[in-house]
Amino acid sequence: MTIIAVFNQKGGVGKTTTSLNLAAALARGGLDPLAIDLDPQAHLTIIGDVPVASGADSVFGFYAQARPLSDLVRKFPPGGNIIPSHMELSKVDALHGKGLKSVMRLKAALQEEMLEQEGTPIVIDCCPMLNVLSLNAIFASGRVLVPISADFLSVRGALQLEGTLKALEHVVKKRIERRYVVTRYDARRRMSREILVQLRERFGDELCSVHISENVSLAESPAYNKDIFTHAPHSQGAKDYDALLTELAATGFL
Ligand SMILES: Nc1ncnc2c1ncn2[C@@H]1O[C@H](COP(=O)(O)OP(=O)(O)O)[C@@H](O)[C@H]1O
Ligand SMILES: [Mg+2]
Repeated sequence: MTIIAVFNQKGGVGKTTTSLNLAAALARGGLDPLAIDLDPQAHLTIIGDVPVASGADSVFGFYAQARPLSDLVRKFPPGGNIIPSHMELSKVDALHGKGLKSVMRLKAALQEEMLEQEGTPIVIDCCPMLNVLSLNAIFASGRVLVPISADFLSVRGALQLEGTLKALEHVVKKRIERRYVVTRYDARRRMSREILVQLRERFGDELCSVHISENVSLAESPAYNKDIFTHAPHSQGAKDYDALLTELAATGFL
């Protein structure tokens, strides 16, 4: 089944919000998703209220002590399961170089442990840096969902990222599938509307038709440790993430 890396090297663009609510939407659709929190800030783990006693019990245990990934899988209350994160994960870059073996570790383990099974879509929430962790996510998945918040700097970041993905394709010698999705869209702002036009010109069909609106329920739900479907099922945010999943499935990305 599909593995998706939710990545943008810019912070605050909606990676964690998108990972959380895509996992929740998949679970509501009857699937049993596995979320992997690959950000040392551990926001997805914290929002899901998954207690992690030590770094060894998080995905850091896999990188630092070669623990099997399947030992680290925990129930993820928003839906399915999660391999949680811990702030110690920030040490991984220093522990491992960016050699081919280091950046392929997650891919190799997911395959060896057969975690990538029928009915188990995997959603990887990345950190806002192109480091060894994000490269692990991109190479494990081969497909990247890039949230772009509707502001100038975020668009610049996405254009840079397009260059990065092209460079990485030379390394793996195959196409890295990607979809861009605009988040925090505010229809009252001319800038939001202009950004949509600009990104459509640049990315064509790789830009999702669905965009995620700026929505107060989406901003509030993490404070209640909830995904949007549990926190505010009738909100625009819930409608948008439901529509995003439908589009990703219909276009064969997921
Ligand atoms: N569509 C949205 N509407 C309102 N607030 C949002 C939306 N998407 C994300 N946020 C808020 O913006 C902040 C950054 O989002 P987050 O998903 O954590 O970004 P990232 O993981 O890329 O750093 C969070 O406080 C989150 O609740
Ligand atoms: Mg995040």
